[in-house]
Amino acid sequence: MAASGISGPTRARLWSSITAERKEHIPRAITENVRRALRAQPQSNPLTLKILTQMDKTLTPLAASDPLRRSVSAPAEVSLFRWIIDVFTVTVSDGAFGNVCLDKFPEVLDNMFSLQTNVYAIFTRRPKILAPKAYDACDKLSKILARYFALPREDKVGCADFVTRAENEIRSAGVSQEELAMIMLDNPSTTAFWCLCRMLYDPGLLSAIRKECEEAFSRNSPTTSADIPVQLECCPTLKATVTETLRLHSGTHVFRHVSEDTEIGPYCLKKGSTVLIPYNRLQVSRTYWGPDAEDFNYRRFLDNPELAHSRYFRPFGDGIHQCGGKAMAPQLVMYFVAIVVCRYDVGISGGFESHPFPRIDFPKGRATVPMPVAGDVPHVTLTPNKRAA
Ligand code: HEM
Repeated sequence: MAASGISGPTRARLWSSITAERKEHIPRAITENVRRALRAQPQSNPLTLKILTQMDKTLTPLAASDPLRRSVSAPAEVSLFRWIIDVFTVTVSDGAFGNVCLDKFPEVLDNMFSLQTNVYAIFTRRPKILAPKAYDACDKLSKILARYFALPREDKVGCADFVTRAENEIRSAGVSQEELAMIMLDNPSTTAFWCLCRMLYDPGLLSAIRKECEEAFSRNSPTTSADIPVQLECCPTLKATVTETLRLHSGTHVFRHVSEDTEIGPYCLKKGSTVLIPYNRLQVSRTYWGPDAEDFNYRRFLDNPELAHSRYFRPFGDGIHQCGGKAMAPQLVMYFVAIVVCRYDVGISGGFESHPFPRIDFPKGRATVPMPVAGDVPHVTLTPNKRAA
């Protein structure tokens, strides 16, 4: 969750304010709201099912074409990264805030893209003057969301409960709407980008996943939203591919403050010190994963799904700060991929052989799921197929 970009005084106020309803500090209350909303398993979790259903609507190409919502109803060539970020922004915006948000403020799309591609500058605490794009996008989104919150309740049809609750709690603590807006940004779209790239550069993998998804979905399309997670379980190759993508293309390092002397084996962590946990290094440790640790090999999870529970695989962190979206994010990425391969013929424009696999932009990727080098992003052709109606 991008809680960065918030000024020092605001952070202090947030941490010193207690919510009226649950007597918690504001930042904790907000993350707890997300956690509570996403606690239940996907098939019985209303928020997850709402967002999954929304993804289905966003990617219905032959529905009334809505350029704002990026539906592709005729063959098109798009930048893979930009298109995916837009699709996720539309889905999460319509699902969490209701359609009114994008209808009234279509500039959300450009600003989300600008924020997502420059957010590293905020995470690495560059001064505003050196990172105008990131701060400008953040300011604009904050203002848009403030205007959204200021709309009458009856206009905000489809606004998810956890959004309303966060808004109430912040207001009760006297925090401005702009500040609230900054706390509410997040996006698993970069994971979807890497996952689809892996498939587009491996035609055998792409066709195996397409076959699996067509069997699970097209011939047995979901009758209720609760069927979606069940049908995703019938796609083991897709699941292994998303998991391997998370192993290689996510996992950050996190910091923990030691609040009291703690002995772990022969080591003593001293009170007041800071511990750095390099999840991103553990996920490519040769000692654990073997000599091909740095290679993309989805078969390791296909052959041994238990590896996903290993202590060497923590893309969502661990402990009390573990990611609140841990159960929902992989479902969203998997469902996005499943819909794309079932409804579109998709390929790298000019063939994948003519376009090297995009490199990770390491300087931009330290704090989030790493971004691709901008000049490496491939264009893809998307052609709605007959099954897409
Ligand atoms: C692929 C997508 C995602 C990845 C890789 C990811 C990863 C992470 C990581 C590494 C952390 C820090 C964990 C730690 O300090 O131990 C985190 C925190 C968090 N994430 Fe995610 N995340 C993703 C998507 C989401 C989504 C979709 C949501 C909610 C809708 C979400 C909500 C949160 C929250 C609330 C926290 C803060 C937990 C706290 O500080 O107590 N994340 N995430």
